[in-house]
Amino acid sequence: MSILEADAASVTRAAKLLQDGGLVAFPTETVYGLGGDATNERAVAAIFEAKGRPQFNPLISHVLDAAEAKRFVEWNDTADRLATHFWPGPLTFVLPRTQGSTIALLATAGLDTVAIRAPSHPVAQALIRAAGRPIAAPSANRSGAVSPTQAAHVAESLGDRVSLILDGGPCLVGVESTVLDLSGNRPTLLRPGGATREAIEAVIGPIALSDALPSGEAPRSSPGQLESHYAPARPVRLGATAVAADEGLLAFGPTPPTGAMLTYNLSPTGNLAEAAANLFAQMRALDRPGIGRIAVMPIPETGLGLAINDRLRRAAAGDPTRPQG
Ligand code: TXA
Ligand code: MG
Repeated sequence: MSILEADAASVTRAAKLLQDGGLVAFPTETVYGLGGDATNERAVAAIFEAKGRPQFNPLISHVLDAAEAKRFVEWNDTADRLATHFWPGPLTFVLPRTQGSTIALLATAGLDTVAIRAPSHPVAQALIRAAGRPIAAPSANRSGAVSPTQAAHVAESLGDRVSLILDGGPCLVGVESTVLDLSGNRPTLLRPGGATREAIEAVIGPIALSDALPSGEAPRSSPGQLESHYAPARPVRLGATAVAADEGLLAFGPTPPTGAMLTYNLSPTGNLAEAAANLFAQMRALDRPGIGRIAVMPIPETGLGLAINDRLRRAAAGDPTRPQG
């Protein structure tokens, strides 16, 4: 792992790493982010692996401006007014994914919405511009640890799990961005953050607070508790070592059972990062008419397997927080 002062040369090197599917820690005005190519399922899987997250929480995709955001999300008037006031800056919008949006499914945890923001930090902007693609980035710390606001914090927390840290000095805002859901009828605050509720309401009028977040509650220490989860319409059966003829099989490893109506293999070689990268796309591909049930082979409870199994268990339980409609 190396820490490089952010300048033209190090940003170019970092952008090349991102284009090759690697991870780079970089400064934003809120906190340091652990960035990967938001359109590359494998790179996004590597982010979860480096963070050691036991769950796949949807991540924020970072773009330069509203024009770029419109390539990936269904824009609307509220987003337009808010972007005029707050972008670039610490305000994240949750908006419906456009048809043909190339944001990785793993970056949105399989949801039909995308969290997107344009950071104001010049190094973050230079990196997005040089990489030529949106950057998915949660805070650059191991899961459960506090968010880093200096390059040295990132190094302490992630060590060699990240190969390059761009040092842009301390973050000026110091808390994560505000997350505002603009995908429903009423703008809803999902996470308080760098843009205040008062400032947002001054632009668009009263906003709703998420049920999970009563008025006045302090920001949560761990993000990702408030989001909905993708859940397939078909029942899910875990731990399958044999299959029925009406089942679709989500396989793992070199020797899947035969006889399923349709089979997708998360990773024929048993690689968990590959499995994570394929998880949501393959679950969706199996969740279709004609298939009675989705059978899933056992996945080891190690490394990314924890997050994969967490998501599979929610899918099997019929997730209570699944989105409406
Ligand atoms: O300031 C920040 O936002 C930092 C810097 C690096 O930009 N990033 C950050 O990302 O805090 P992360 O992944 O730690 O937090 C993303 C938040 C989570 O609370 C997640 O639940 C929410 O955004 N989120 C992301 N996508 C969502 C979606 N489609 N629907 C609802 N919530 C979503
Ligand atoms: Mg975080």
